Amino acid sequence: MKTQLIQDAIDVLEGNVQKGGFTIPSKGLYPFQWKWDSGFIALGFGHYDMDKALREMSTLLDSQWGNGFIPHIVFHTKTDTYFPGEDFHQSELHPQSSKKYRSTGMTQPPVLGFVLERLYQMSKEKAQVLEFIDAHIDKVYDNHAYFYNNRDRDRDGLIYIYHNWESGTDNSPIWDVVWETMDPPHYEFERKDTTHVDASQRPTKREYDHYLHIIEMAKAVNYNDQAIAEQSPFLVQDPLFNAMLVRSNEALISLYELIGRSLDKQEQLEQWSQKTTKAMNIKLFDEALGAYIHYDLRNDKPIAALTSSSFTPLFAGVPSSERALQMAQVLTQRFGGKDRYLCASFDPEDERFNPKKYWRGPIWINVNWLLYHGLKRYGMEALSAQVRSDSLHLIEQFGFYEYFDPRKINGEKTNAYGGGNFSWTAALTIDLLSE
Ligand code: DGY
Repeated sequence: MKTQLIQDAIDVLEGNVQKGGFTIPSKGLYPFQWKWDSGFIALGFGHYDMDKALREMSTLLDSQWGNGFIPHIVFHTKTDTYFPGEDFHQSELHPQSSKKYRSTGMTQPPVLGFVLERLYQMSKEKAQVLEFIDAHIDKVYDNHAYFYNNRDRDRDGLIYIYHNWESGTDNSPIWDVVWETMDPPHYEFERKDTTHVDASQRPTKREYDHYLHIIEMAKAVNYNDQAIAEQSPFLVQDPLFNAMLVRSNEALISLYELIGRSLDKQEQLEQWSQKTTKAMNIKLFDEALGAYIHYDLRNDKPIAALTSSSFTPLFAGVPSSERALQMAQVLTQRFGGKDRYLCASFDPEDERFNPKKYWRGPIWINVNWLLYHGLKRYGMEALSAQVRSDSLHLIEQFGFYEYFDPRKINGEKTNAYGGGNFSWTAALTIDLLSE
């Protein structure tokens, strides 16, 4: 079974590789290169074709802007099957945007540091991978410097995102409170995603109005960070985003140590990490809920709700062991139980929970992968093993889907939704099975 599943996963990945050295997340629905997808995808390639893994990384890093920014989508190819595409985003408005590729003017969670570290750990040809890392690590460092120099409004080490698509958790109910503060125009546009996937599994038209409105705001100021920080109706400090940054800081330090250079950068990364960790523990931990939450920086208030992102600081070693135990209890009691697989993307006990709709409830394998490693980091072997086996069970049962229903429903033929043959689901299957 294991060998067959790995072979099937490899077939999915190979089917999504494009000319130009990048991999699409899923045919039809997502026809370009996405930032955090590419990171997770590389982890799959690394187990059987390291050249492809490194090429995925270098193609993405090649889209970096002059200020260190790395975009969330790189529009390598022309296609009218996706909305909003390159002509909508107009990355060229920013004076330092890539002259080589058009892209979006927003980013996604900073996963590249820990991806490079894991590629090194799994590689059989350490010298080859180390050479690659030596040649590319400064770009990842520059990306972190971009965040700390431009996205840390209050200089407390907490990075903000200015668009829900930057979180990766696109239509989480978390954003509903932000949408309530906005009243964007009713735009006329043609959705493409709902021609690929049933509309009941995707965001609503009104949600898209909000998404587009924020982009229009950012374009009006030519994607200038300072102006965005002043004007964006969406300005949020996200626990997953900041946890990824802390974990990647940590990974960059150990990689710089390995290649034996840039002590100054190592020290800077250490300072950044300490600052972010401290601020996350002061500002983003909710004692009553027992996990980390989002903070609405624009309206200056915490968003008191639990998501799968609430537990990702475990991956970065952010919580004390006491808090980690508290989080594990919440995860087990509120998200788990005998009727559910781990881990729903939104609190199953909240009335807004929707087990079929994108980030409003379904399980995502990349977040499960983060939780698996996070729980292991704290020595919680049984719970981490459960997250792993739930993930693999769902994939074996239903296929390499984009997201899965957390409910255990007897006799149900399909509990899997969104795009099929989804790259990171396949890639992380290979990685989970390698453990
Ligand atoms: C989409 O089109 O839904 C993407 O997730 C945006 O990143």
